[in-house]
Amino acid sequence: MPAASRPAKKTARPSSRELVFGDLWEFDPAPETADPKLKTKCDLFIHGQFVKPSAGKYFDSINPATETKLADIALATNTDVDLAYRSARKAYDSVWGRMPGAERGKYLFRIARLLQDHAREFAIAETLDGGKPIKESRDFDVPMAAAHFFYHAGWADKLEYVSPGRSVKPLGVVGQVIPWNFPLLMLAWKLAPALAMGNTVVIKPAETTSITALKFGEILQEAELPPGVVNIVSGAGETGAAVMGHPAAAKIAFTGSTEVGKIIMRSVAGTDKKVTMELGGKAANIVFDDAPLDQAVEGIVNGIFFNQGHVCCAGSRLLVQESITDAVLTKLKRRIEVLRVGDPMDKNTDLGAINSKEQLNKITELVESGVREGAELYQSPCRLPSKGFFFKPSVFSNVSMSHRVAREEIFGPVLSVLTFRTVDEAIEKANNTAYGLSAGVWTDKGSRILKMSTELKAGVVWANTYNKFDPTSPFGGYKESGFGREGGRQGLIDYCREE
Ligand code: NAI
Ligand code: MG
Repeated sequence: MPAASRPAKKTARPSSRELVFGDLWEFDPAPETADPKLKTKCDLFIHGQFVKPSAGKYFDSINPATETKLADIALATNTDVDLAYRSARKAYDSVWGRMPGAERGKYLFRIARLLQDHAREFAIAETLDGGKPIKESRDFDVPMAAAHFFYHAGWADKLEYVSPGRSVKPLGVVGQVIPWNFPLLMLAWKLAPALAMGNTVVIKPAETTSITALKFGEILQEAELPPGVVNIVSGAGETGAAVMGHPAAAKIAFTGSTEVGKIIMRSVAGTDKKVTMELGGKAANIVFDDAPLDQAVEGIVNGIFFNQGHVCCAGSRLLVQESITDAVLTKLKRRIEVLRVGDPMDKNTDLGAINSKEQLNKITELVESGVREGAELYQSPCRLPSKGFFFKPSVFSNVSMSHRVAREEIFGPVLSVLTFRTVDEAIEKANNTAYGLSAGVWTDKGSRILKMSTELKAGVVWANTYNKFDPTSPFGGYKESGFGREGGRQGLIDYCREE
């Protein structure tokens, strides 16, 4: 920060306890400056080509950190979606469904390597379009997306081990709709297993983050993937409904809100489509009194503030054992005070922009409800940029199970703290939710970890860590968090017929 815009220093140097944000560690700006090679007009990717939308309509994609327009994104109508499905069907029948797995694997390896080659461009494009800090898109989203293609490339010639004793066959054409929180990574999670298994795909990115998905079409061209194997159609809910409801889809896969998941389930009821859903969450991060507290605090911060809390498995409820509540809250607040919130393109930024105005409004509304219902709100003293969509890291204490902030998915940097006394109470409170995607347990006791991991109704339970991902490890939910798994051998089963 230039000296002129620094806050005036106090005359007497404050003692370390009185230091406030801004007095500590003033970093110079460290903006990422490489060229992401963005197109200003992004067309649909159908049958291996970028094609104009049939109705000629486009919508804006903006940079949520600056509110400036980045590109025109093609709006796919039912006609375009239908064209995409016909192309996918043709590619399945004539090429991809018949190709030996080892050959398909070569394409997947090529895609993975090309993603690595273009990693920097993709990271910058992801950050500009979605608002997440560049250090996350650079160090997490893009490398993990490549890792998913590498992992599934390795499976493509070993599919006889997916379901030992049975043979597996591809399903045909798969329809997929993905959200805006990990745009490229969710695309990789969806495409890689589907393609390894021999399916062809029609996929729709979220309307606020279509740029990296459509840019991925360029990777597919460079990899010389046969036309029609992957078709990318952009648009909002109506386009999504057309992708999910198309009669040619043998299977549909959705990641997004529970509300839309339910609408889709109703629309496909009575058809023989195979369905997998990855929906919301309200995960509990549970800290016992024997946990290493500094590590736990890092885990709590990572669990809820990673990607501005735009994470379905975010540790949005902290369950802390009563005897250590004050100690944990004090450490937590000190850690939050030094989180850097602001320009996502700055390499030092910890929390970037909220993905959209709508999401910011939703977070604001839920936080207001928490205050109204009597929970105690603490917010980081950080300064927010004057333009763009930002929200201060926030912690609610004195939360009760009936508060909306304890029950509803906020999908923002907002933590709700509840307390417990016994193991059974922790389990009861953690499971007392409509969701069941993930949970975290912090304790020194191995036996307690094992007990918690069997009793918690959550698809993933992390122990003494949080938000760790690996393509080999299946991910998915219980209850209203959905069904089906992504990643690992289990994820492949959801993309095949077992005979
Ligand atoms: P959303 O569920 O509306 O959007 C996710 C995807 O579904 C987007 O690609 C969207 O275009 C598509 N979509 C919307 N309506 C559709 C329909 N009728 N048929 C088929 N596809 C449709 O989520 P939204 O409105 O962006 O966010 C609302 C809340 O949902 C968030 O505040 C968060 O709580 C939750 N959410 C959860 C996600 C997760 O990863 N589990 C991801 C995104 C949102
Ligand atoms: Mg955008």
